[in-house]
Amino acid sequence: MPFLGTDLVRVARLSSVRTPAFTRRTFTAREVQVCRDRPDSLAGRWAVKEAVLKALGVGIAGIPLTDIETDRGPDGEPLLTLRGAALERAQELGIQQWAVSISHDGEYAMAVVIGS
Ligand SMILES: CC(C)(COP(=O)(O)OP(=O)(O)OC[C@H]1O[C@@H](n2cnc3c(N)ncnc32)[C@H](O)[C@@H]1OP(=O)(O)O)[C@@H](O)C(=O)NCCC(=O)NCCS
Repeated sequence: MPFLGTDLVRVARLSSVRTPAFTRRTFTAREVQVCRDRPDSLAGRWAVKEAVLKALGVGIAGIPLTDIETDRGPDGEPLLTLRGAALERAQELGIQQWAVSISHDGEYAMAVVIGS
C-alpha cells in the first residue's frame, strides 16, 4: 500500500518565522545552500517535510525536520533523502522508495510525496 502525504504552505508565513535558530532546526545545510535567495524553494522544501510526516503518520514533534532533506537533481527535480528517526519510521512501514513533487507560484508552495 502506498503512503501518501501532501502540504500547502504560504511562502510569506514561512519567511516570517525564519529566524537563524528556526532555520538550523528545520533545514539542512544542503537545503539552505540549494535554496539561497529563494523563499519559494525553501517553502517547497518545508511542504515536503510536512507531507512526509503525514505519509509516515507522525506529528511534527516526533521527528527532527532535518531528518527529511530535499536536494535538487541535475534537471532541477527534487531528490528526497530520509535519515535518523524519519528513516527508521519509513523502514517500520516497509517504505523502500519515495516519489516527490514540488510546485510554487507566488504566494504558495506545495508538495506531494508517495512512499512505497
Ligand atoms: C519542470 C518544469 C516544467 C516546472 O516548471 P514550473 O511549472 O514553472 O515549476 P513549479 O513552480 O510548478 O515547480 C517548481 C519545482 O518543480 C520541481 N522541478 C524542477 N524541475 C523538475 C524536473 N525536471 N522534474 C521534476 N520536478 C522538477 C522543483 O522542485 C521546483 O522547485 P525548486 O526549484 O524550488 O526545487 C520546469 O522547471 C522545466 O521545464 N525544467 C526543465 C527541466 C529540464 O529538462 N532541464 C534540463 C536541464 S539540462
